[in-house]
Amino acid sequence: MIKRIYTGDRPTGRLHLGHYVGTLSNRVALQSKYDIFIGVVDLHGLTDRMDDPKKTALVKDNIRELVLDYLAVGINPDKTTILLQSAIPEVSELAFLLTNIVTIARCERLPALKEKIRDQKIQNPSMGLLNYPILMASDILSVRAQLVPVGKDQESHVEFAREIAKTFNRLYPGKEKNNPVFPEPEAIIGEAKTLPGIDGKTKMSKSLGNAIFLSDDEKTVEEKVMKMYTDPLRIRANVPGEIEGNPVFIYHDIFNKEKGEVEKLAVLYQEGRVGDVEVKKRLVEAINTFLNPIRFRRKIFEEQEGIVEKTLRQGTEKARIEIQKTMQLVKAALGLPDFSL
Ligand code: TRP
Repeated sequence: MIKRIYTGDRPTGRLHLGHYVGTLSNRVALQSKYDIFIGVVDLHGLTDRMDDPKKTALVKDNIRELVLDYLAVGINPDKTTILLQSAIPEVSELAFLLTNIVTIARCERLPALKEKIRDQKIQNPSMGLLNYPILMASDILSVRAQLVPVGKDQESHVEFAREIAKTFNRLYPGKEKNNPVFPEPEAIIGEAKTLPGIDGKTKMSKSLGNAIFLSDDEKTVEEKVMKMYTDPLRIRANVPGEIEGNPVFIYHDIFNKEKGEVEKLAVLYQEGRVGDVEVKKRLVEAINTFLNPIRFRRKIFEEQEGIVEKTLRQGTEKARIEIQKTMQLVKAALGLPDFSL
């Protein structure tokens, strides 16, 4: 049996090189081997901003940018099911049912949620935010996914979904003894590198303003790379430089296909025989070479009228059928009347 995967992104803006290195390239590789569902989780996107109508108004455009980025990097909607979370009411319905088998204290204790509240300095978390993990569990369980590829920071969420699946299965074993209502989902934590930002901070992130976006044009990439953080102790080109932990070299290692050039630059840099400007110019070329096919595909998709809607509609319809089947199992197990039409 081909295993089923669920993974999701909140539509908060364009995707960047960090996303590519962290998850996107992996998703493209996995789509031929697994049955993958990618949720555009717009309801999750609202959990920390719906009190501000200006932010809510951006969601629609963000969804469009996200789907265009997916298509541009090679996520193929004929292989991967790309769904819009808010367009499938059963996801919310399942989340609502699951709230009854989770304690308030358990949600409050969840590490991933505590970190989010701390990092974003959220003073008065909404009920929606407290429910975030339950909604995420519902995403995963609604399609009965077995595997969930996420970053380390999301691991506790998947563990939580697994706990809910176990609790539900124990309380409501359903008709078939060997086929519980919910498979117990497992996180796949890639050893994927975390790409540092152009400012040298550990993580590239839109909110930190240190990202190179997949849809940045050549000129923007040049401007960003030329002002990138490098070895701060290197005040002149003839001072030996440090390549370890130097974002310019980390990027060269990942994005520059000319491995010979990278090795040569690294040697010269450590010997103080090449300037930062030169190394950065080569990086500009490498990143642009890497991004060109992605830009090219994005442009083709952008020019196709209705492509985003078509992609989402196709995936959402397919996902909804699966999710409605799950809801029938859930209601049967609970002994609720099933009046779904
Ligand atoms: N919480 C995830 C994030 O912020 C997004 C997400 C929502 C998700 N539902 C999911 C990820 C289900 C994996 C599976 O990145």
